[in-house]
Amino acid sequence: MRVLGLESSCDETGVAVYDTERGLLAHALYSQVALHAEYGGVVPELASRDHVRKLLPLVRQTLAEAGLSQQQLDGVAYTAGPGLIGALLVGAATGRALAWALDCPSIGVHHMEGHLLSPLLEPNSPLPPFVCLLVSGGHTQLVAVEAIGRYTLLGETLDDAAGEAFDKTAKMLGLPYPGGPELAALALEGRAVAEAEGRKESHFRFARPMTDRPGLDFSFSGLKTQVLLAWQASDRSEATKRDLALGFEDAVTDTLAIKCERALKQTGMRTLVVAGGVGANKQLRKNLADMAARRRWQVSFPRMAFCTDNGAMIAFAGATRLAAGQNDFEFRVQPRWDMASLAPVAALPPPKSG
Ligand code: KG4
Ligand code: ZN
Repeated sequence: MRVLGLESSCDETGVAVYDTERGLLAHALYSQVALHAEYGGVVPELASRDHVRKLLPLVRQTLAEAGLSQQQLDGVAYTAGPGLIGALLVGAATGRALAWALDCPSIGVHHMEGHLLSPLLEPNSPLPPFVCLLVSGGHTQLVAVEAIGRYTLLGETLDDAAGEAFDKTAKMLGLPYPGGPELAALALEGRAVAEAEGRKESHFRFARPMTDRPGLDFSFSGLKTQVLLAWQASDRSEATKRDLALGFEDAVTDTLAIKCERALKQTGMRTLVVAGGVGANKQLRKNLADMAARRRWQVSFPRMAFCTDNGAMIAFAGATRLAAGQNDFEFRVQPRWDMASLAPVAALPPPKSG
């Protein structure tokens, strides 16, 4: 089954074709970063208008790369939420119209389920059960995945998401939007006062929030205040800024690793899957890989390009549900949407790499 996937929930337009027999056939992405940069964040109305401009040309480009005509598609998947309502409506309207014109089924995909399943696009990817750490700009969640579509929330952030904390801290330190990758790049140049297990430790040691009590929830909003206070009390040099970035990144990635270890112990599961934009953070990947190696657990990440928003994860999640006989009969987008409310998927097509 060949499924076209459309992602337009925020500031990236993503399109892909996933074939349940042959794997990922093609994918294309257009990032709106340059459009929003001068505002220091995403402007929803500008995002929607840009999706309108870019979506159909990207569909044509992706189909050409896959060597397919529109008529060879067997289904269309689009992000139906959570996300910015105007941006979601562009993908949903385009997806539904295409499916209607091609007389094929369509399905609205949960954006976070797309992220959660994105590591399954890689070769030798794990099958459930596993624990998933979802770390994006809007979410920080630990989810027990008993099967595709059967998700139990183990813990989540009580305030800022990890990506949001990166972005806000970066902005505070005067870094350009989008701040997360900028802050991570700066942290690479931070001075180490110590090396622990091959990892640099900064002059600045910030709290590992909520790791001193049981539970799997997170709280990242206090960290940016700690960084701000340290910055204000410092010499405000560029070198200090780099050290602060390293100290902040240490605190976030350590905290995430501590809670992942706890979640695996609590559930008795032996596999961790990481997804979402912050999953592109190299320090986080290293921390989690080290933790898993110590415990002889498995850890699986999407390729870097599929950590942040993309069409491939939507095509894959949609193909999984369409192949199991699910489809949507009504036009609906949901800016807020609880993943636990999703229907289970009885049969899973074997994931193939592209
Ligand atoms: O998954 P995503 O593309 O969009 C959402 O669904 O939110 O995640 C974007 C988030 C942003 O907050 C961005 O700053 C963060 O992921 N991010 C990173 C890195 N790359 C992206 N944060 C830390 N280190 C990175 N290398
Ligand atoms: Zn996302």
